[in-house]
Amino acid sequence: MANLSPIILLLALFSLIYGNAIASHHVHRNLQTHQSSDSSSNQPYRTAYHFQPPKNWINDPNGPMRYKGLYHLFYQYNPKGSVWGNIVWAHSVSKDLVNWIPLDAAIFPSQPSDINGCWSGSATMLPGGKPVILYTGIDPNNHQVQNLAFPKNLSDPFLREWIKSPKNPLMAPTVANKINSTSFRDPTTAWKGKDGYWRVLIGNKVNSVGRAVLYKSKDFVNWVEAKQPLHSAQGTGMWECPDFFPVLNNGPINVGLDTSVDGDHVRHVLKVSLDDKKHDYYLIGTYDASQDVFTPDNGFEDNSQPVLRYDYGKYYASKTIFDDGKNRRVLFGWVNESSSQNDDIKKGWSGIHTIPRSIWLHKSGKQLIQWPVQEIENLRVNPVNWPTRLLKGGELLQVNGITAVQADVEISFQVREFQKAEVLKNWADPQILCGMKGAGVKGGIGPFGLLVLASKDLQESTAVFFRIFRYQNKNLVLMCSDQSRSSLNKENDMTPFGTFVDVDPLHENLSLRTLIDHSVVESFGGEGKACITSRVYPTLAINEKAQLYAFNNGTSSVRITRLSAWSMKKANINGN
Ligand SMILES: *[C@@H]1O[C@H](CO)[C@@H](O)[C@H](O)[C@H]1NC(C)=O
Ligand SMILES: *[C@@H]1O[C@H](CO)[C@@H](O)[C@H](O)[C@H]1NC(C)=O
Ligand SMILES: *[C@@H]1O[C@H](CO)[C@@H](O)[C@H](O)[C@H]1NC(C)=O
Ligand SMILES: *[C@@H]1O[C@H](CO)[C@@H](O)[C@H](O)[C@H]1NC(C)=O
Ligand SMILES: *[C@@H]1O[C@H](CO)[C@@H](O)[C@H](O)[C@H]1NC(C)=O
Repeated sequence: MANLSPIILLLALFSLIYGNAIASHHVHRNLQTHQSSDSSSNQPYRTAYHFQPPKNWINDPNGPMRYKGLYHLFYQYNPKGSVWGNIVWAHSVSKDLVNWIPLDAAIFPSQPSDINGCWSGSATMLPGGKPVILYTGIDPNNHQVQNLAFPKNLSDPFLREWIKSPKNPLMAPTVANKINSTSFRDPTTAWKGKDGYWRVLIGNKVNSVGRAVLYKSKDFVNWVEAKQPLHSAQGTGMWECPDFFPVLNNGPINVGLDTSVDGDHVRHVLKVSLDDKKHDYYLIGTYDASQDVFTPDNGFEDNSQPVLRYDYGKYYASKTIFDDGKNRRVLFGWVNESSSQNDDIKKGWSGIHTIPRSIWLHKSGKQLIQWPVQEIENLRVNPVNWPTRLLKGGELLQVNGITAVQADVEISFQVREFQKAEVLKNWADPQILCGMKGAGVKGGIGPFGLLVLASKDLQESTAVFFRIFRYQNKNLVLMCSDQSRSSLNKENDMTPFGTFVDVDPLHENLSLRTLIDHSVVESFGGEGKACITSRVYPTLAINEKAQLYAFNNGTSSVRITRLSAWSMKKANINGN
């Protein structure tokens, strides 16, 4: 990445602070230049308001933190190409989690304990507001070890330079601890117990048992492995990128807690990224700090209920921070491409991050709620609002007046005629159900929802929709993101995604919010109860040719109780 001079940094900081005001006056020009410029016609899949570097490969978000009023985001990055390799910690800063300034790489191979790679890790705020980073280094024997880095100059709000501890590695696989040297990575943010000891989790496995290994330290330098992992589960394979944090029990929405908070008013969440499945799963449970044991309400080994996921589409290696500026917990996640590696090499880049999401415990205590951070709404322009109206079976209504390729859409439905619901006799995997019953398969109640990134003739479209079943005398709501017709280019992975949403359409309207950004479709069903992120690569429905529709392919009509849609301005992301 370019070596930015202090003057450019100052200008960039200025534009971060004042950029929104300036940008809003130029939105039409920006959208037009964006759409007609050469780079855009060659690069129809680059996003306009999702986090990505100007080029090359990106994967896990690393060490997010807030320091002196600036958000810092580091990420796994290959400076040399658009496939995985040569991994360093690239670094960007932001005032608002929307616009980002690129800085030089913060952590790169420079000592034996990381000479073959600087892999994922997390930041912790030490007392006095001093940030430190724990990350996984790959040593000369290709063993995975844990290292410490700290800022060179705490007066620099950009924290541009990082120094590595001469004591690295601080945690390493040994004959004594029997830790597998190729399955020992991704330290969490540390939390401090009442006993004054810091605790950190490292992802690990023993045979097929996934484990969150616990280490403790008084001084953050000398770490001792606890007798037992904080949690483990048979048959789950390698646990990558663990995350462990408290959530308020029965608290107000969108309020978060510092990672070290504990007590009767909190529950704890353990998230693990399952390497075998490539999805992020989370458990809600009770943390016994005196024994350092986490007991989930429903665990991996309890077969009665599937373990919940953050996102039922493409989403991996996520990480949260407590944002002490806005008193909320914010979730960052990586979304990989669904295109072929050849296409990634041709376009010169691969991977994006989702819009950061606020995350909190639903009042039922049974699941988390996720919602795009409120700051993203500053990009909304040209609102379109529909009056309440009926959407009959078979009807397709175009949403006019917005830039459909770069949009934020909120729609709600009131379901009627419950007797028309299809009966589901046996439980089915929701993703498989979405594959069998796509938008083109007529139903009773539904499919109804949005057709996004659609071409004029509907040869290409991505359908995000609901379908309601009668199952064991209850209404069961299926939410799908159906990519099967998203592109004429069949080289792409167009697997449909789906999940059930824990809402009862008898007592509440069914809401859907979808963020559309050229090649990414991020959807939130049931006010953040279910998230599905998709990557799509239309060949016809690109730039100004993309269209947006509301559709109903069921036999019963539904009422649209709300439709609000906005064009989204381009954000200033890493110099793009
Ligand atoms: C530390 O950062 C501050 C603020 O950017 C700067 O003024 C100062 O010169 C830096 N100190 C050193 C030793 O680089
Ligand atoms: C260590 O983990 C690697 C990677 O999963 C695996 O191939 C290997 O068999 C493991 N070794 C032992 C001793 O469990
Ligand atoms: C990335 O995408 C491919 C193809 O869509 C998928 O098979 C793979 O599991 C994904 N990897 C991760 C880490 O999500
Ligand atoms: C609705 O179903 C018909 C018949 O299966 C199909 O041709 C059409 O494409 C579907 N509409 C949408 C919006 O998917
Ligand atoms: C659904 O929305 C409509 C229109 O806003 C409202 O009148 C109705 O009460 C809502 N239904 C439920 C069950 O909340």
